Amino acid sequence: MGSEPSARIETVLQEERVFEPSQFVRKEASISGIDHYLKIIDSAKAHPERFWQEEALKELHWFKPFESVLDWSNPPFARWFDGGKTNVSYNCLDRHINNGKGEKVAIIWEGEPGDVRRITYKELFEEVCKTANALKDLGIKKGDLVALYMPMVPEAAIAMLACARIGAPHSVVFGGFSSEALRDRLIDGQAKVVITADGGFRKDKIISLKDAVDTALEDNSCPTVKSVLVVKRTNESVSFNAGRDYWWHELIPSQSKECPAEHMDSEDRLFVLYTSGSTGKPKGVVHTTSGYNLWAHLTFKWIFDVQDNEVYWCTADVGWITGHSYIVYGPLSNGSTTFMYEGVPRPSKPGAFWEIIQKHKINIFYTAPTAIRAFMKSGRSIPDNYDLSSLRLLGTVGEPINPEAWMWYREVIGRDNCPIVDTWWQTETGGVMISPIPTAVSTKPGSATMPLPGIEVDVVNAEGESVETDQGGYLVIKRPWPGMMRTIHGNSKRFRETYWEYLKPRDGELVYFAGDGARRDKDGYYWIMGRVDDVINVSGHRLGTMEIESALVSHPFVAEAAVVGRPDELKGEAIVAFVTLESGKEFSEDLLIILKSHVVQEIGAIARPEEIRFTNALPKTRSGKIMRRLLRSLASGEEVKGDTSTLEDRNVLDELRK
Ligand code: WT7
Repeated sequence: MGSEPSARIETVLQEERVFEPSQFVRKEASISGIDHYLKIIDSAKAHPERFWQEEALKELHWFKPFESVLDWSNPPFARWFDGGKTNVSYNCLDRHINNGKGEKVAIIWEGEPGDVRRITYKELFEEVCKTANALKDLGIKKGDLVALYMPMVPEAAIAMLACARIGAPHSVVFGGFSSEALRDRLIDGQAKVVITADGGFRKDKIISLKDAVDTALEDNSCPTVKSVLVVKRTNESVSFNAGRDYWWHELIPSQSKECPAEHMDSEDRLFVLYTSGSTGKPKGVVHTTSGYNLWAHLTFKWIFDVQDNEVYWCTADVGWITGHSYIVYGPLSNGSTTFMYEGVPRPSKPGAFWEIIQKHKINIFYTAPTAIRAFMKSGRSIPDNYDLSSLRLLGTVGEPINPEAWMWYREVIGRDNCPIVDTWWQTETGGVMISPIPTAVSTKPGSATMPLPGIEVDVVNAEGESVETDQGGYLVIKRPWPGMMRTIHGNSKRFRETYWEYLKPRDGELVYFAGDGARRDKDGYYWIMGRVDDVINVSGHRLGTMEIESALVSHPFVAEAAVVGRPDELKGEAIVAFVTLESGKEFSEDLLIILKSHVVQEIGAIARPEEIRFTNALPKTRSGKIMRRLLRSLASGEEVKGDTSTLEDRNVLDELRK
C-alpha cells in the first residue's frame, strides 16, 4: 500500500451521554421495542439463511421463487436467491397499485425556483412504463447499460425505474462531475444511452449538463453511446445533434402507458455506481437485483419505519448511493412517500431546508453531518424561525458526526424530541449496516451504535485478530449479506484484492474490509473513526487522493503531487496538495489558481483543493513511497511525530516545515 494506514487509528474521546429509545405511537411498528429487536437479532444469528429466506419471501414479490438462499462456494463472489425471478420496478410500483395504493403520493418534489410536483404511484407507474418503452425504441435491450447525468428532478427517479423495468442496468453519474469524469465512466461502463437535461440549478448558478455530455462524447470518444435523451429543465439553449439527441418531452408522452416488467434473475445487474478508492481510477461498484432490493427495502423499513401518512425526506443527490437506496429504491419498495428537493441550502437561502420541512410537514429527515455543522455555524435563530413540529425522526449519513453536532441536531432541529439515527454504510454495502433502531436501541452522541440484524462486524488488527474493547482497529464485516456489492465492473481481481485481501485472512475465512477505522466500547457500540486508506471524505463526498494526484500531474507544469486530507471543522476533511514542478517552471499565485481549476475540470468542483503547497521535493521512503503520514501532519499544522527513520532525505522535511 502507498501509505501507512494504522498511523491514523487513534482512540477518540470518551462520550458518556446516553439517550433512551423512543416509544412512537404505532399500530404496527416494524421493530416494536427491545424484546422484538433482540428476537430478530438472535434469529438472524442462529439461522442466517432461514432468516434471509423468510424476509425475502415476505418483503418482495417473486414471479418465481428462488431455489437457494446464499451460494458462498466461491468467495468473495456471492450469489443470493438463485433461481428466483423478480423485478425491482415491479416491487416499487405494480405491487402497491395492486394493493390499492395507486392514488397514494409516491414522490413529492420541490424544484429550485419553488415549483412543486406530487406524483402518485399510478402516475409514476405510467411515466416509468412510457420511459421504458422509449428506451426500447432507442434500441435498449436487457443487459445494456444506460447512463444518467441528471439534476434532481423526478425524471431521474423515473429513468432509474424504467431501466430496472426492462433489465437495463443504470449508471448514475453525479451532475457535479466534470465532462472528463463523465467520459471515463461512460467508456468504462460501455453505456449505450445517456439521459441528461439541458441544465440543472446548482446553488445560485445553472450548470450546463448537456454541454458537458457533448464534450464527453466529442471525437467519438465513447463509441458505444448511440443516443442522448434530454429533459428540458432550465431552458438553456443547447446544441442538438440530429439522429443522436432526443428531447424527453417529444419522445416520452406518446409512448404506451404499459410495459410489462421483465422477469429478472436475482443476480442480474441492477446498477453500476462509480466510487473512489485508494488506487487508480474510480471503480464501478456492481449491485444486482434481488439482494440489493431486499437490503434497501429492509433497512429502510427497520430504521425509518415510515407510516402510511408520513412524508420522508433524504437530502442526498440521486448521483450517490444514498440517493439510490434511500430516495428511490428503499422508500418506493416500501410504498412510502419520498420527498425530493432540487436545491441545497446556501447563503442566499439559509432557511431552505426548514422552510420545506414546515411546508411539506416532513416527518423523517435524513441528511449529512457536514450540512448540520454548516447550520450550527449560521446559528439556531434560522431554524428557530420555522415550525419543525412535524419531525419525529432524524438521521445522518456519510461521515462521522461529532458529538457537538449530534447534540445540536437533537436539541435545535429535533427539540429534544426526535431520536437520531447515525447510519454507517458505503456504496459497496448497498444499504445501512450499523445504525440504531430508534424504538429499541439507546443512542450515544457520535456512535452509529450496533450492526443491523444479520450483520456481523468486528474490529481487528492487521493480523486479522479482534482487538480489545476501546482499542482502535480496522472495521470488518464477517459474513456475506444480501446487499453486498458483487464485484467491480470489469475488474474482479481488484474487487478481491481491495476488499477481501487487504487484511490477512484468519483461519482461512475471508472478511470484508470497509476502509474505515473503528473502536468498540464496553457496551458493544461502534464508533467509526474515518477512512484509514488513501480515501478522503470532504463534506460527505468520497475522493481518492490518487485520483486528485493524477489530475494534478496531468497538468504539463506539474512533476509530482501528493494529496492528503486535513481535518476541517465544517467539511470533515479539506484537500491539501503538495506539488513539485517540472524543471524550469516557476511557482506563482496564478499557477495556483490554474492548478485548482485544472482539478475541477478533470474531476469536478467537489475535488477542488483547498490549499496547494509548492515544494522542491516530496518526503519519500527509500523504496520511493510518498510518506503521506508526514504530509498529513504538516497539512494540519501538527508536529511531525512517530518514526521518520525510513525517510530517504531528511532535508526534505526541514524544507517542507518552512
Ligand atoms: C464512507 C462511504 C453511505 C452513503 C454515503 C457515503 C463514511 C458513511 C458514515 C457514518 C462515519 C461514515 C465511511 C464510509 N461514512 N457513513 N454514519 N459515520 N462514517 O457513501 O461515498 O460510499 O462513502 O463514508 O468512511 O467508508 P460512500
